[in-house]
Amino acid sequence: MLVLGIETSCDETGVAVVENGKALRSNVIADQQLLHSRFGGVVPEVASRAHVDLLHPAVEQACAEAAVTLADLDAVAVTIGPGLVGALLVGVAAAKAYAFALDLPLIGVNHLVAHVYANVLEHGSLPSPAVVFVVSGGHTSLLVMEGEGEFRMLGQTIDDAAGEAYDKVARVLGLGYPGGPAIDRLAGEGDPAAISFPRSLLDDGTYDFSLSGLKTAVLRHVRGHQGELEVADVAASFQEAVVDVQVSKILRATREEGLDTVLLAGGVAANSRLRAKLERDAAARRVRVLAPSPRLCTDNGAMVACAGTFALERGERTPLDVGADPNLRIVPGVGRRGPRRPKRGRGAAPVGR
Ligand code: KG4
Ligand code: ZN
Repeated sequence: MLVLGIETSCDETGVAVVENGKALRSNVIADQQLLHSRFGGVVPEVASRAHVDLLHPAVEQACAEAAVTLADLDAVAVTIGPGLVGALLVGVAAAKAYAFALDLPLIGVNHLVAHVYANVLEHGSLPSPAVVFVVSGGHTSLLVMEGEGEFRMLGQTIDDAAGEAYDKVARVLGLGYPGGPAIDRLAGEGDPAAISFPRSLLDDGTYDFSLSGLKTAVLRHVRGHQGELEVADVAASFQEAVVDVQVSKILRATREEGLDTVLLAGGVAANSRLRAKLERDAAARRVRVLAPSPRLCTDNGAMVACAGTFALERGERTPLDVGADPNLRIVPGVGRRGPRRPKRGRGAAPVGR
């Protein structure tokens, strides 16, 4: 079964062809970073327009690289939420058009669920039950996956998502957008113990996360600093504070839920320090950690095709009148309230994802 996956929830135009839900035949990612970097964040309207320009050529390229034609496809999967509504709509409208014109089933996919399914592309299947940590530009959620596609929420961020915090701190440090990869790289040259930043909610007994205090502490440190700022030390110390809390809560979840597998998902799961520390501490407790390779952690069409294939095999179909849902939840009724907020009051209001 060949499924076309389309992802346009934020600033990556991702199109992929995946065979039988597992084999990556092609994975085209047209990123828009250059377009958004001068604003320091994603400008929703710019993203929507770029998706319009990039999507069709990306579909053609994905088919060419997979050595298939549109007529060979068996279904079209598309991200229907959560994300930026205008950006989502471009992908949803295109997917509907392809599905209708080719007389193929349409499968609407939850972006966060797709991130989790990126693990299938890497590891061949999704072990369940497992503790799942979805950590991206818009979300930080700790969940239990009870069975295929069935999630129970343990906790989530009460303010900034992890990727959002990486991007904001990178902006303060002058590292550009997106900030996560830049901080990850620079942190490797710094001392993670140089500055003692707060570890919010570390021992509060919940599975919730909070990063706004840490972000403010970094800002204060940078503004109040005398002499030359050791940017690498700030990056490393900030990253260590983020990762400490994440690893502690993930491993507590495995203990309290009696589970021995952790699945990482989302753009921030590409973070080298999170992967290294979690793997080390988990191994000491005989817990195994599965994560997609870094290039499959960030937004892509392959994870959408993969999640779509499994939904299709469960007999799911999405009607052609489906809309985009910017606030779609991974667990119905549980999640961060309200749409993604515009992050800066300046100009075109880029969002910190
Ligand atoms: O999943 P994703 O591609 O898009 C959303 O669904 O939001 O995640 C993007 C986020 C950005 O905030 C980016 O800075 C962050 O993931 N990110 C990282 C790394 N690579 C991407 N954060 C920390 N370390 C990384 N290596
Ligand atoms: Zn994402």
